Amino acid sequence: VKLADLTTPALLVEAEVLDANLRAMAAALPGARLRPHVKAHKCTALARRQAAFGHLGFTCATVREVEGMAAAGLGHDLLLANEVLDAHRLGGLDARVTVAVDSGETVEAAARGGVREVLIDVNVGLPRCGCAPEDAGRLAELARARGLGVRGVMGYEGHLMLAPEREKRAAGTEQAMERLARAHAAVGGEVVSAGGTGTFDLNRLATEIQAGSYALMDTAYAKLGLPFRPALSLLATVISVSPGYAVADCGLKALGMDHGAPAIDGARVWFCSDEHVTFAPDAALAVGARMRVWPAHVDPTVAYHERLFVVAGEEVLDVWPVDLRGW
Ligand SMILES: Cc1ncc(COP(=O)(O)O)c(C=O)c1O
Repeated sequence: VKLADLTTPALLVEAEVLDANLRAMAAALPGARLRPHVKAHKCTALARRQAAFGHLGFTCATVREVEGMAAAGLGHDLLLANEVLDAHRLGGLDARVTVAVDSGETVEAAARGGVREVLIDVNVGLPRCGCAPEDAGRLAELARARGLGVRGVMGYEGHLMLAPEREKRAAGTEQAMERLARAHAAVGGEVVSAGGTGTFDLNRLATEIQAGSYALMDTAYAKLGLPFRPALSLLATVISVSPGYAVADCGLKALGMDHGAPAIDGARVWFCSDEHVTFAPDAALAVGARMRVWPAHVDPTVAYHERLFVVAGEEVLDVWPVDLRGW
């Protein structure tokens, strides 16, 4: 199969770039130092590649992701780095499952659901999930009293991931991790799980880094000068040309737009609508021409699509189902 045979918009992964990204990360954070986050790609075939690079433990964001990873035989050590109340779906899985908890309710749900191990999730500065550091010890005691194994703490410094200056990311991470260290002292356990693509080499406290975007990357992360390159694009077809601009068939229903409009090589993107991207090309384009559109945010982009086409040049090497979609 060739690129020319694909229906557009089609989600493409450059095989060689993906491989280089996985290799670069495995060199920086070998084995269990990285717990790749599957929410970035929602694809067990890609997770299998990460496992082949030596990372056997994975991070998930949804129950569905945990179920899918377990069913795919990738359940060596799955962390659901999120609060869930439907933990009963996790108890019977053929996998080692650890769940984040930040309240009495989520501890109770884990215990009742048959989950055996938890991490105490600590708010380290991102106003999302996580308890106050002062509450972490009490929650750990509560979890142990309910028969749960407490493996340690997690704290995601997501508010810092896209800070453009490396020094700001470093200083912010240092501060965030002071909160997590305080919580860890009260909780105990061997695991301190934190970090992401923007702080993968800056977080000095974490025993494991939860990066996910590094594998496929996006234009937002590409601005940070990290040692990872964009591997993910959308193949689109030019469907209309007007004086000064052109339109391709790749709109906001095919693209995560919360980090801004996508990029097109040799063009300035004006805006996206449902099924269109309008852009000003540097050189004239004909209707029917095909082009690459580079998404600004990898995670929601992938979640819109059913499959990833793994490509080298004009050749489609493989088709990987985005099989961890849904909830
Ligand atoms: C809990 C958690 N850990 C880690 C990550 C790391 O992701 P990324 O590689 O995109 O920085 C995320 C992303 O949002 C997250 O929510």
